[in-house]
Amino acid sequence: MTADGLQLIVMGPPGSGKGTQSVALATDIGAMHISTGDLFRYHERSATSLGDQIQDFMKKGDLVPDDITIAMLKDKIESLPDSMGYILDGFPRTLNQAISFDKMLTAGNSKLDLVICIDVPERQLENRLLRRIVCAECSLVYGSHVGGEYDEYCKNCGGKLQKRVDDSDKEVIGHRLKKYMDLSLPIIDHYQAHGILHRIDGTGPVIEVTTAIKRVLASTFKGTLSFNY
Ligand code: AP5
Repeated sequence: MTADGLQLIVMGPPGSGKGTQSVALATDIGAMHISTGDLFRYHERSATSLGDQIQDFMKKGDLVPDDITIAMLKDKIESLPDSMGYILDGFPRTLNQAISFDKMLTAGNSKLDLVICIDVPERQLENRLLRRIVCAECSLVYGSHVGGEYDEYCKNCGGKLQKRVDDSDKEVIGHRLKKYMDLSLPIIDHYQAHGILHRIDGTGPVIEVTTAIKRVLASTFKGTLSFNY
């Protein structure tokens, strides 16, 4: 089952499961998973000049300025093969990013197909983030680990498993959550007005959320996408 040319967004607050769900879906439908957070972390790790510019924003849980973010995303999308579908995770974060992205797509005679917004109440998010472990190399997310016990190395690439810098401090987590609450409503309204927004309850187990998203995709893209649940 492939998603040639499908252009999807998965949005939601920090810890809502955007990354977890986007990776699962991208694998299932043969689309590219594009996480702006992962791209920024790659630049930080590789000490590129972009990495130097953005590290203070990331550490404090602030958004990277729109012009930098949009330019990086544009480069990434332009590097994909023509018919490659993609799932954006963590973009857009501001209405300006959403509008700039619309213009970018229109200029390329293209359009966004669907936006999934994963809703999880704030009280569950902090716990998820405090317990999350990720691979420092490939960014694979290793679930919520109670009590700080976890393997040392990634099963996927052998990279070191660690907490994300912006998950280590409750104040930074609170700041990230507040940013989302402050900035997401206009984006949600924007995509609702375009008739392409679907909201998903993200409070259940991962597999249930994945199934709910697949149902939306299957009904939106009848004849193109189907799934074995
Ligand atoms: P980014 O990497 O996008 O971080 P985020 O939005 O804070 O989101 P997270 O990655 O923290 O959470 P997630 O929703 O992906 O959850 P996950 O699946 O991991 O951005 C980081 C930074 O980069 C930003 O602060 C900013 O500085 C910069 N940035 C990025 N994009 C930008 C943009 N467009 N503009 C400007 N700046 C930008 O799951 C979380 C945990 O919960 C995991 O442990 C997981 O196992 C667990 N979990 C997932 N689903 C469930 C479930 N259903 N039940 C129980 N646990 C679950």
